[in-house]
Amino acid sequence: MNSIETVAIIGGGVIGGGWAARLIENHIDVRVFDPAPDAKDKFDAVLANADRAYAGLTDAPRGSKGSVTWHDTAAQAAQGAQLIIESVPERPDIKRAVYAEIETTAADDAIITSSTSGIMPSDLQAEMTHPERLMVAHPFNPVYLLPLVELVAGTQTDNKYIEWGKTFFADIGMHPLHCRVEIAGFLSDRLQEALWREALWLLHDKVATADEIDAAIAYGPGLRWAQMGTMQTFHLAGGEGGMRAMLAMFGPCLEWPWTKLMDVPELTDDFVNEVGDQCEKQAAGLNPRELERIRDDNLIAIQRALKGNDWGAGKTLARYEAKMGRAANDD
Ligand SMILES: NC(=O)c1ccc[n+]([C@@H]2O[C@H](COP(=O)([O-])OP(=O)(O)OC[C@H]3O[C@@H](n4cnc5c(N)ncnc54)[C@H](O)[C@@H]3O)[C@@H](O)[C@H]2O)c1
Repeated sequence: MNSIETVAIIGGGVIGGGWAARLIENHIDVRVFDPAPDAKDKFDAVLANADRAYAGLTDAPRGSKGSVTWHDTAAQAAQGAQLIIESVPERPDIKRAVYAEIETTAADDAIITSSTSGIMPSDLQAEMTHPERLMVAHPFNPVYLLPLVELVAGTQTDNKYIEWGKTFFADIGMHPLHCRVEIAGFLSDRLQEALWREALWLLHDKVATADEIDAAIAYGPGLRWAQMGTMQTFHLAGGEGGMRAMLAMFGPCLEWPWTKLMDVPELTDDFVNEVGDQCEKQAAGLNPRELERIRDDNLIAIQRALKGNDWGAGKTLARYEAKMGRAANDD
């Protein structure tokens, strides 16, 4: 497989900007296309926050950054790229139109990844000329700080690209997780969406405010989840008996049930406004960029702490720093 020196970023929003920041930090050049008139301003703001974040995250030498160039069309941006990352809105029709356009200029051996949060890659690749080179590489916001990337193949994807992805994304400081079974929502968003749906019900039914719902996570389970997932966490909650004891004690509650399962509250204008108002009140006057910097500082502190304990996402950071240190010594 080709080494990756140039990446096309199609869609330069929250996720495209985050990918670009991670790539240029790793000395890779990016070629961007986004049709929105304010796209470049938003993109540059993401790069600025990312630059600040990397300065705090890693003790490894950072080296020179890759370049960023803007292009007038997706087809132009795709030219000469060994990897093309699509991060356009979550609509299959828009994504498919982008693939049709970039396939007119992309190199035959260029790899195409979609950042989709949950659309099946088999659906995305259905009309492509070279469907075997498309796969999902689903990152998490902020892409420049969170290591997880879910790799998902469609029915027509050549498995060699998944194998390539495991190496490439690890090399740029990430934790590639191969979702072996193609399923809508993949792994992480299935779990996140279940929680979000329940949170919306609690707010809708006036059981709790947005602030109270978030406190119920941030001061308790959320702290555990930064270092162990639900399975290991509940294994420990079962004491000596582990997960078996948990299932014996709380298994019957699953049938009561304590959750609303698949129902979704109707997203009326009133309800959407109520949720939006409460979340804006929670922000306490901080604008999104200021809040992002607070989030980034906390994510950095957590990952550095985990590195000290040689655990979870901290292990990924340590491995990345070791690689960066070696690269600097080679220079
Ligand atoms: N926001 C998240 O937390 C998150 C996390 C993981 C994955 N994703 C996925 O990433 C993708 C992008 O989401 P986002 O949050 O960055 O959205 P966004 O709205 O911030 O960015 C999308 C960008 O695509 C641009 N765009 C629209 N049509 C385009 C086209 N034809 N060609 C090129 N650019 C076009 C828009 O102008 C916009 O800047 C979606 O598939 C989403 O599901 C989002």
